[in-house]
Amino acid sequence: MNEKILVLDFGGQYDQLIARRVREHHVYAEIKDYTGISLDEIRGENYSGIIFTGGPNSVYDETSPHYDPAILDLGIPILGICYGAQLMAYMAGGTICSAEDSSEYGKTRVSVRPGQLFAGVPDESICWMSHTDYIQSAPDGFTIIAETSKCPCAAMQDPRRNLYGVQFHPEVAHTEYGTTMLHNFIFGVCGCKGEWKMDDFIERSVSRYRSELKGKKVLLGLSGGVDSSVAAALLYKAIGDDLTCVFVDHGLLRKDEGDFVEKTFKGRFGMNMIRVNAEAHFLEKLAGVTEPEQKRKIIGEEFIRTFEAEAKKLGKIHVLAQGTIYPDVVESGKGGSATIKSHHNVGGLPERMDFERIVEPLADLFKDEVREAGVKLGLPDELVYRQPFPGPGLAVRIIGEITKEKLDLLRDADAIFREETDRGAVRMPNQYFAVLTDMRSVGVKGDARTYGYTCALRAVDTDDFMTAQWSRIPYEVLERASSRITNEIGQITRVVYDITSKPPATVEWE
Ligand code: XMP
Repeated sequence: MNEKILVLDFGGQYDQLIARRVREHHVYAEIKDYTGISLDEIRGENYSGIIFTGGPNSVYDETSPHYDPAILDLGIPILGICYGAQLMAYMAGGTICSAEDSSEYGKTRVSVRPGQLFAGVPDESICWMSHTDYIQSAPDGFTIIAETSKCPCAAMQDPRRNLYGVQFHPEVAHTEYGTTMLHNFIFGVCGCKGEWKMDDFIERSVSRYRSELKGKKVLLGLSGGVDSSVAAALLYKAIGDDLTCVFVDHGLLRKDEGDFVEKTFKGRFGMNMIRVNAEAHFLEKLAGVTEPEQKRKIIGEEFIRTFEAEAKKLGKIHVLAQGTIYPDVVESGKGGSATIKSHHNVGGLPERMDFERIVEPLADLFKDEVREAGVKLGLPDELVYRQPFPGPGLAVRIIGEITKEKLDLLRDADAIFREETDRGAVRMPNQYFAVLTDMRSVGVKGDARTYGYTCALRAVDTDDFMTAQWSRIPYEVLERASSRITNEIGQITRVVYDITSKPPATVEWE
């Protein structure tokens, strides 16, 4: 049995981040809600350690989450974080205090005493605090091992039982030595070896879904984006032909994208994949529409109807699979795993369909972990490392009415810009694409006057796409892209580069 750590969730914001930090140390971490696992079950699971997460409550609130204090005597090392530390102190008989003027929020100087948890941590450093309540006195058997100017017990330990509590958040990057502390807990206190790899996650998921989905027909909406592709590859490994992927090609994809997706999944993996060529249908619905929100609405609606019609043809489907990843779960609020989200990368799936259950195999993973899983599952790099592409596709990159002619022009211009950026950028922007504006302007070719479209190039650097900087890509790249676009695509006579950050602009033009 591989070593693993239990992240016992008391309603904190950072439960997944904690699990991820543990996984970064090559130890598997699983999250359980505090109501979702009994003491006996914990005993039976052979955990190497337990981490109590933070949470918004005060331990004295009637409704605040609590756990059987016997957990402290299981002989399993425990690290309590924030509310988790207060709860540990409370369970062990310490006193928790609530005082508004003692609350701390943000970067805070902390002094620590030497010990196992703080090996390699200097006496003074910066930690991330976010609390109103604090531990006033450490329980019997515990000693205080850290303090801040407002918090007399910023950390405590009972080394005899391997119990540790920290008032601050070691899992967030703002805590300078947070990684060291977690490392000390995982290896020093829990005695883990750190042998877990992404392969283990894949193996674990494959065997789980193989038994849970035995004899069930599963449907997955494939967008060609990273998340749904990795989910498809994982489930295919588990259940093979019981999985059917439906790929709705709305005709608003990038150059050769539809063929690439089909070649990968049908050709390379041999999956049951249905490609619905719905370009003509979508273009008909979009004819004459210029208002961005209306375009999005039409595409979203048609996407669902097309998907539904295909699903119906397949007969009884028991399970809907989705490529939801952890950041999607956060955006939709906790516990949203059974809701079908409208922002999902396949464009929002039907809500009224009759499934027994929804399966989201990647719901615990962050984007880079999903990519790692994709590589391990044998997906091509082009697919695994592709930049984000919006559900409504090129429709939100063509200003004004959408026509087949404009789509083809944009596809060519976009392919050239991406090719030149891939070739010449010193640092890759996080997203880079072309936009076809609705503006025409005068140009000259040979001795003749031209009158053609203006194409805008857009490239942004960003961590989270909530804010973004326009990317300082080399002039030479812009020059080559501009020259190739105007030479190779007759109807485009002018190329401009978008130098607006987000905010005030958005990444997409519509
Ligand atoms: P904006 O334009 O909102 O884009 O600054 C931020 C990021 O989200 C992507 N985007 C979408 N993705 N469906 C999607 O799946 C959409 O409707 C959609 N709109 C924008 C955009 O490409 C960028 O990465």
